[in-house]
Amino acid sequence: MKVLLLNGSSHLHGCTDTALREIAAVLEAAGIEAEILFLGNEPVRDCTACGACKTLSGRCVFDDDIVNQVIAKAEAADGFVFGSPVYYAHPSGRILSILDRVFYAGKHAFAHKPAAAIASARRAGTTATLDVLQKYFTISQMPVVSSTYWTMVHGKQPEDVLKDEEGLQTMRNLASNMAWMLRCIEAGKAAGIQPPQAESGARTNFIR
Ligand SMILES: Cc1cc2nc3c(=O)[nH]c(=O)nc-3n(C[C@H](O)[C@H](O)[C@H](O)COP(=O)(O)O)c2cc1C
Repeated sequence: MKVLLLNGSSHLHGCTDTALREIAAVLEAAGIEAEILFLGNEPVRDCTACGACKTLSGRCVFDDDIVNQVIAKAEAADGFVFGSPVYYAHPSGRILSILDRVFYAGKHAFAHKPAAAIASARRAGTTATLDVLQKYFTISQMPVVSSTYWTMVHGKQPEDVLKDEEGLQTMRNLASNMAWMLRCIEAGKAAGIQPPQAESGARTNFIR
């Protein structure tokens, strides 16, 4: 069983990574593989809405960045944590550009897999950031994993995050809940419980 944790910061070992490592350690102690994937700090393309992914069997037409790697890793993962720093009270533009393309081309890789979002801020904008990230889950049939507080840490430097005792506790509790949910889903599958088949066909612009 594997959880893929995305670091949407431009800092390889910044505050977001510090929080993700706290989660990964608890998952690994519970016997669940945890891979932290740094989304990088190179320029990244936004979705061009070309629609070519509809004919490319689950891949983005632009194959020169990390997007198709994320989709491939998502196909092999059982759960997800999306982590972002707060930039002007929203997630990083990097993680949004990547996730827009990942979900538009590779939505199939996510359905019925549990997921959580975490945010790192110096001070404010965390709940708006979490709200944006969680919207990928709730349009993709993904159970949302929660914790004992909204899933945020505070800091400008990683050392600040290490002093945020409640933030780190919230990360650990999130990880325990993720491990529990994954085990429940595994037990359900072993007992013959299949994910529901979603209805499709109705796709309207408001009412027509
Ligand atoms: C462009 C930019 C915008 C930021 N906007 C906010 C903000 O709105 N609220 C906040 O509390 N911190 C803000 N910050 C600070 C970062 O969110 C904070 O330092 C975060 O913990 C950095 O995480 P990282 O080390 O993983 O990149 C901003 C930082 C940058 C670079």
